[in-house]
Formats: sequence, structure tokens, C-alpha cells
Amino acid sequence: MRSLLFVPADSPRKLAKSLESGADALIIDLEDAVSLAAKPAARAGAHDFLRAARTAARRPMLIVRVNALDSGLIDADLDAIMPAAPDAIMLPKSRHGADVQHLSVKLAVREAENDLPDGGVKIIPIATETAGAIFGLSSYAGASERLAGLTWGAEDLAAALGAETNRLEDGGYADPYRLARAMTLFAARAADIEPIDTVFPNFRDDAGLRAECAAARRDGFTGKMAIHPCQVAAINAAFTPSPEALDHARKIVAAFAENPDAGVLNLDGAMIDRPHLKQAERLLARTGTP
Ligand code: COA
Ligand code: MG
Repeated sequence: MRSLLFVPADSPRKLAKSLESGADALIIDLEDAVSLAAKPAARAGAHDFLRAARTAARRPMLIVRVNALDSGLIDADLDAIMPAAPDAIMLPKSRHGADVQHLSVKLAVREAENDLPDGGVKIIPIATETAGAIFGLSSYAGASERLAGLTWGAEDLAAALGAETNRLEDGGYADPYRLARAMTLFAARAADIEPIDTVFPNFRDDAGLRAECAAARRDGFTGKMAIHPCQVAAINAAFTPSPEALDHARKIVAAFAENPDAGVLNLDGAMIDRPHLKQAERLLARTGTP
């Protein structure tokens, strides 16, 4: 999953457009992008869209962002959408692994009720939206077989911290959000799931988006969420490994295959050892190329 596009579930127009966006995944939103009054219509819209979209031969991964566990809305969200079998649920305001387990039980009940495979629906938590959530990041590892990725949010966190803004004048994130971003990366890798970078809200700033994608890929994130279809191409490009990078990874794997007892090798004048092999194998596994 390189690109994950948010689509408000109460907008039939955006839902229809989202399928042409080229995004690897759609996040059909029932939470912040939908007003309280529009929640029932959004649930029905999400259900109908999922039903139609999941039968397509080539389709994006279909994720639904439900309302938070303490919102009083999540059970109605799940009742409405689970009969249409989404691929995954995005859990906002997740505080720790126990929240994932709580959601997992809710999903298990609805999977049984709807004749869906037990454990089939995955979970992607947004893991930095409350002040306390930062301290729960280490608890995702091993929390649930359903975990399929971990992402972070800077907008709700700014509200939770009472901040004036989350960005510095140069456009970069202020320290609390840099910490949340880095901790999400550590937590996702510790849990052996995909680290997904947060949205870049200023969708007319293409250079800013590209810079943030490049920084995310550099640091180890494997994808990024989007809020507008115009962001998808840049995100897909940034998180698609270049032919040169794939070639180099294949050379590293081949070098160790030819020298199975070597700890360290010389590849074209540069030292390579086990961490390089692991990185190369990870890159090739991600793209599904041998
Ligand atoms: N998914 C699908 N289609 C979208 C879209 C999205 N996220 N965002 C915009 N579009 C469509 C619009 O409907 C419009 O199509 P149209 O001309 O056929 O009506 C086209 O793309 C161009 O949109 P544009 O006029 O540039 O933007 P807008 O003013 O309509 O919408 C936002 C701007 C920010 C309101 C919109 O992009 C949006 O709703 N994004 C998602 C917000 C969200 O889910 N937030 C929660 C997570 S942070
Ligand atoms: Mg939010």
C-alpha cells in the first residue's frame, strides 16, 4: 500500500471519483470528514459503495475509518458496513494494543453474523491522536493478528495538546509531531507491520508533498495517506522503488547467496553486511519481485 486516499462517505461524487484515482487503498471516512447529522447517510453510502466496489476485478484495498471506540457511534458504523465486507478498518484515536483487541472482538462478532471468515478484516490504527496514545505505542507489537499497518495523525494531536499549530514557519513539523511520527515508525517496525505516513493537508502544494514523501521513504515509511486525488500520483511514485534500487537489492541478495558463510562482503567497492541484506530482502519482498 503506497497511497491511501481518504474519501468522505457522505459524498457519492467523491466516492465515484475515488475509484479512478489510482490509489492503492481507499479510506472511506465515517469519522472527522462527516458531520454528526450526516453519519446515517454516510454509513449507507459506505455500505453501498463497498458492495459495488469489491466485485471489480482490479480494485483498491477498501478500508473504512469508523468513529472512535468512545464515540458512541462505532457499533452503528460496524453494523452498517460489515455486511459489505471491507478489507480493513481504520481505528482513529487508538490508545494502545488493547483498543485493537477491543475492536477485534467487535469485528469477530460481526464476521460470524455475516458469514465472513474469522479474523479476515484487518485493522490499521491511527496511533498518535491523543496525548496518552504516545505512551501506548509499544503495546501494538503482538496485540492482534489483524494488525495490517500503523499510522499517525498530527491534526487531532495538536488539538489534544492545546497547540497553536503543528507546523513551523518553514513548513516542517514542530517537535511534538516529529516525535509522534518517529515513534509511529518504531512502533510499526517493532510490531512487524507497515508504517504509513500521515496526510499532507495542503493539497495544492505539490513541492511540499513531494518533499514530505521523500523524507518518509528515506526514514522507512512504506506509504502515505492522501486527502485529494491529485496527491496520489506523487505518493505512488515516491513509494515505488526505482529500478536502480531494485537492481542493487538483487545484487546484495545474490552476493550473499554466492557466499553463504560470509558475514561481510565487498560489493562494487562498498562494504555490505547483514543489515544491508535485510534491507534488500525487505525491499524485494515489498514489491513482490524476486
Ligand atoms: N476523493 C475523491 N474525489 C475527490 C476527493 C477525494 N478525497 N477530493 C476531491 N475530489 C474530487 C472533487 O469531488 C472534484 O470532483 P468534481 O469536479 O467532479 O466535483 C475534484 O476531485 C476536484 O476537487 P477540488 O475542487 O479540487 O476539491 P474540493 O474543494 O471539491 O474538495 C476537499 C477539497 C479537501 C474538501 C476534498 O479533497 C476532501 O473531501 N478530501 C477528503 C477529506 C477527508 O476525508 N478528510 C479526513 C481525513 S484527514
Ligand atoms: Mg481526525
